[in-house]
Amino acid sequence: MSVTPAFPQGFLWGGATAANQLEGAWDVEGKGVSVADVVTGGDVNTPRLIDPSLDPDKYYPNHDGIDFYHTYEDDIALMAEMGFKTFRMSIAWTRIFPTGMEDEPNEAGLAFYDRVFDCLRAHGIEPLVTISHYEMPYALVDKLNGWESRECIDYFMRYATCVLDRFHDKVTYWLTFNEINCGLARGGASTSTGTFKGYTGPRTGLPFDLSVRYTAVHNQFVASAKTVIYAHAHYPELKIGDMCIYIPYYYRTCDPDDVLLSQQVMQRVNYFTSDVHVRGYYPGYIKRYFADNDITVRMEPGDDELLRAGTVDFCTFSYYMSNCVSCDPTLETTGGNLFGGVKNPYLKASDWGWQIDPKGLRWALNEMWDRYQKPLMVVENGMGAFDKPGEDGVVHDDYRIEYLRQHIEQMREAVADGVGLMGYTMWGCIDLVSASTGEMAKRYGFIYVDEHDDGTGTGARSRKDSFHWYKKVIESNGSDLS
Ligand code: BG6
Repeated sequence: MSVTPAFPQGFLWGGATAANQLEGAWDVEGKGVSVADVVTGGDVNTPRLIDPSLDPDKYYPNHDGIDFYHTYEDDIALMAEMGFKTFRMSIAWTRIFPTGMEDEPNEAGLAFYDRVFDCLRAHGIEPLVTISHYEMPYALVDKLNGWESRECIDYFMRYATCVLDRFHDKVTYWLTFNEINCGLARGGASTSTGTFKGYTGPRTGLPFDLSVRYTAVHNQFVASAKTVIYAHAHYPELKIGDMCIYIPYYYRTCDPDDVLLSQQVMQRVNYFTSDVHVRGYYPGYIKRYFADNDITVRMEPGDDELLRAGTVDFCTFSYYMSNCVSCDPTLETTGGNLFGGVKNPYLKASDWGWQIDPKGLRWALNEMWDRYQKPLMVVENGMGAFDKPGEDGVVHDDYRIEYLRQHIEQMREAVADGVGLMGYTMWGCIDLVSASTGEMAKRYGFIYVDEHDDGTGTGARSRKDSFHWYKKVIESNGSDLS
């Protein structure tokens, strides 16, 4: 008798966002300048630039976001209308500690998140909070070169313990760092090593030194482990997870050299960071990679013990695409949010070159489950597209519905395979500023936001077709995907 795929009861359906991409209000009520605030807008062909001079003649899209800071009540009401069980959001570090180095937090910033969490709870929506989503204080970059410096760990702990102390009775599910493995991507970071993301082109004078990158990620590992240890000691009811980007790298041919290359890329890109977070130690394959490539990671005595003691309670990841690898340098390549690859002839790609591969999600879930046997959550997945309202004023985004339907179907198959999947938060459930390009034009949402890259727009929200579709999906706990 065949198994009927179904999602478990209590499955956490919802959507995902990040503070710097939607809040706006970048300089109000004591907020400091974050790394996201010093990056200009771009598009698929124009890289974003880091310009901390805050040149008034340049456009910094994260300054205004979609003004969620002022519209959160209405926006959350729309999410509640869809039936969200959870809402993934992040806290802007610079709202709480404007330069990261203050002794006391900014009460106005804390009060804002109190209001947001209260509003979510009033609608029966469980917050899922990322403590750091690509937005450390710029002052820490300026002074310390960001996470390259060990000192950042203490500043982060000041912030992380502050928000845990303040919000532990409002927020049960926490993630330490968003897509921590992106800090290792060429073009994915800057002087702030591991905190900016989304750069797909060359950047002004940014060094790419692997020892610095791995040291920066190591410091974040230690900060993450210390956060988990603190949370477990003080608030044992909390669940703390990690968050990594997951991109299957298939071997393009069955040439054993391609197969081996695929395994090595999978280890370095996808598993290294989650192995450390979940298993609590540096795996042998990465030590060998360090040795072979003269990479020196600055560690301190006691770090090994911290990593072992601070392993996470659940694992989350983002999933947008898959890529291929091959030893043949003549094969055609394709894009990706940070890590490109060899083109897969069986897959289509989005307008931004991200290859669409729903079955890869089932594969990823099975791989992750086999490896860790910890509750999993897909906390980002979605389709960036050029949405245009029709003559009736409504966005008819059947392409997005199709993308999501196929991915959710594959998640359901993975659950039937025995994978312990606890939830799904679709990325950019409300249109927001793209991380890689800074565009509003790259839209993901169920909710359309009338704002455009030329600065026009009323900011009005409206329901796309996918809004009604997702509502039905949630109502039926994923059994009705029609
Ligand atoms: C993820 C990030 O990598 O991808 C998000 O965590 C980001 O912050 C999302 O927005 C989609 O990428 P983009 O570049 O299309 O906004």
